[in-house]
Amino acid sequence: MIVIKSDQDLALMRPACELAQTVLEEVCDFVKPGVTTRELDEFAARRISSYGAKSAFLGYRKYPCHLCLSVNEQVVHGLATDVRLKFGDIISLDVGVVYNGFIGDTARTVAVGGCSVEAQRLMDVTEQSLYLGIAQAVTGNRVADISRAIQKHVEVNGYSVVREFVGHGVGRSMHEEPQVPNFDDGKKSAKLASGMTIAIEPMVNAGEPEVKILKDGWTVVTRDGQLSAHFEHTVLVTDSEPKILTCRSKTQSILRPR
Ligand code: MF3
Ligand code: CO
Ligand code: CO
Repeated sequence: MIVIKSDQDLALMRPACELAQTVLEEVCDFVKPGVTTRELDEFAARRISSYGAKSAFLGYRKYPCHLCLSVNEQVVHGLATDVRLKFGDIISLDVGVVYNGFIGDTARTVAVGGCSVEAQRLMDVTEQSLYLGIAQAVTGNRVADISRAIQKHVEVNGYSVVREFVGHGVGRSMHEEPQVPNFDDGKKSAKLASGMTIAIEPMVNAGEPEVKILKDGWTVVTRDGQLSAHFEHTVLVTDSEPKILTCRSKTQSILRPR
C-alpha cells in the first residue's frame, strides 16, 4: 500500500526532512583528513539530539550507528570505525532522522580534502542522475520513469547502477512502498501521484555493478574494489514539479528551535 501524505502530514514531515539535510551538511563540513568515521558518527549523534530528533537508523534491524558512512569502495551501510580518513578518500554519508513522527532520508558523497578527477566525475554523474530521476517524479509518470532516467545517465557515462539496493517510499516508516529501483527491472511499476513521498537514491559504481556484504553483516562493497558513490533526496510528488523535501532553508528555517 502506498501512503499518500495529507497537507497535515507534510507540515510535520517537512521539518524532519529539512533537519536531515541540515545534519547531513553539518557532518559533511566535519569531514577532513585525520578524522575517523567513529568521530563522524559521534558528531552526527550530537547534532541530531541537539535538534530534539532521533536517528532513524540506530537500532533499525540492529544497525549500530547513527548514520551510514561508506568510504571509497564501500557502497552503502558502512559502519563507524577507528580508521582515519585520508586526503583523497571519498565518503558517502547517509542521514535519516525521526522528527515529528516522520522520517527524512538524505545522502551524499564528498571528498576528504580533495580527490582524483575520476572520483569527482563519479560523484558528479551520480548526483546528476539523482536530479534527472527527481525530474521524473510527477503525477502521471511511473516509478520506472525515474529508474530509467537514472540508469541511462549512469550508463552513458560508463558507470553502473547497483541492483541489490533501491530507493523507497518514506514517511512515518523509513521503507514504505513503492520500491524505487535505479534501473529498469522490466516489471510494471506504480503510477506516481500527488502526495507520495519517495526517497530517490542512486548508488553508482565506477566499475561493475556487483556488490557483496562484509563480515560485519552491514557494509556493502563493490566486488571489483572500485569506487562507488551515493546521492539521495526525499522528494514530494505533486501535480506540477517535484519538490525536494530534504532541502535547507537557511534564512527561513521551519525547524522549531530548542
Ligand atoms: N538510509 C538507508 C536508505 O536510504 C537505509 C539505512 S538502513 C540502516 O534507505 F539500517 F543502515 F540504517
Ligand atoms: Co538514506
Ligand atoms: Co533511503
